[in-house]
Order: sequence, then structure tokens, then C-alpha cells
Amino acid sequence: MIFNVLTLFPEFIDGIKEHSIIKRAIEKGIVTINSINYRDYSSNKHKKVDDYPYGGGAGMLIGPQPIDTCIRENDLDKDSFIIYMSPKGKTLSQKLVNELKLKDNLTIICGHYEGLDQRIIDKHVDMEVSIGDYVLTGGEIPAMVLIDSVARLIPDVLSKEESHQEESHSNHLLEHPHYTRPSVYEEMKVPEVLLSGNHKKIDQWRFEQSVIETYNKRPELIDSYMKDKKIDEKSKKTVIDILKTIANS
Ligand code: ADE
Repeated sequence: MIFNVLTLFPEFIDGIKEHSIIKRAIEKGIVTINSINYRDYSSNKHKKVDDYPYGGGAGMLIGPQPIDTCIRENDLDKDSFIIYMSPKGKTLSQKLVNELKLKDNLTIICGHYEGLDQRIIDKHVDMEVSIGDYVLTGGEIPAMVLIDSVARLIPDVLSKEESHQEESHSNHLLEHPHYTRPSVYEEMKVPEVLLSGNHKKIDQWRFEQSVIETYNKRPELIDSYMKDKKIDEKSKKTVIDILKTIANS
């Protein structure tokens, strides 16, 4: 999968190429990240990219020309799905990440200052994406969040040990707690069932814990679980039973 990141700070994006799982995926040739500085495409003799907003008001805007030229000269408007990272966008969720992982080629535009001239968005952008209801100084950190969340779902990016089969948000529920050695640490014991070797009981315990974690930390996700038509009635009934037990305890 190819990620093209249009940014004024390519070195920011280059940072994620040099570490851990993303680095390994690049070395394996499964992921490519091209960071492209759109300042290089400015026709202004001082390579200026920003200007004052028409109508007045605070802050500067990125003008249309550098990004437009950058997109055209790199042929990004043909085969790439173009995203603009913006606090006005659709909120990134695991569901959206799952949709984006199906694209072969994503281009991510990072704004700065007050954002981009609207004409660039109208002409080129397929989707605006936000990473949450707060405002950052630029789109680079959001772009890195998007790349990391999508890249880890591409086949063979994660090893078997790093698998994402049962992680939080994969089925609305949060993950159960995890424990590793030692089995007793400063008098705190690992739950007995995990040491029992009884996999049926371990699975039951994990599911119960997952429901309890979700109920305590993100109760609204239980509603989404119950409303999801893809989830079988038997599992929903188990969730209701677990919730009843919590209520009565
Ligand atoms: N740029 C600035 N703030 C942002 C946010 N919350 N999400 C995506 N891009 C942004």
C-alpha cells in the first residue's frame, strides 16, 4: 500500500519510517510512504505557500497553487484516494480505518495555520478526516495516526504475535485485561483461571472481562454491539447475562 503525504514538514513524517513495525513493513516492501514537501511546488520566487484570508480575520491560509501543482505533477488525482486531515472531517474510527485499508493508494494532505483554501478541497479531496474533537497545530500528527492505524491492518505487516484478531474495537467491545510473568508480583496475583490451562474457561473469562471493561469504560459501545446485525443472538444474550450478573453483584 502506498501513502503519499503532502506536508510542509516531511522530516516529521520520515520519523515514522525509521522505527518498529512501520519500518519493517517498508523494508518488506508491503508499505511505501512518500513524504512530499508541497513548498517545493510553489511558483512564488520565495517559495511562499500561505497568504491572508479574503474577507479578513486572523491567521494565514495555504493557497491553492502549490498543492494543486504538487498533486498534478505527481499524478495523484488519477489513482489515489485523497484525504485532507482536518478537525472538520469525519472522525477516524476502527470502522473507517477498515474501509481505508482497502485502498491501494492514499494521499494525505496536511494543512497548517488556518487550513487550506477551499478550492483545493473542492477540486481534489475525496474525504476530510479528523482524529478527534480538538485542534492541533497541523495535520502531520493526524496523518501519522491514520497511517499507523491503517498500515497495521495490511496483511503481513503484523507478525502472528502482534495479531489484531481480538483487539479493542474489532467487535465494539474493549479488550479483556492481559497478564504475563511472574504469576505473583508484589503480592498481586494473576487471575487463577489464566493459569488453569482450560481454554474454554479462559475464553469465557476473557469475554466476561471484555464486557465488564466496556461497560465500565465505554458503556455506549455496548449499545453498538447490541445493534450490530452481524453479531449473533447467542453472544448478545451472553452479554445481557453478564450485565445482569454485574447489576446484581
Ligand atoms: N488538524 C488540526 N487538528 C486536527 C484534527 N483534530 N484532526 C485532523 N487534522 C487536524
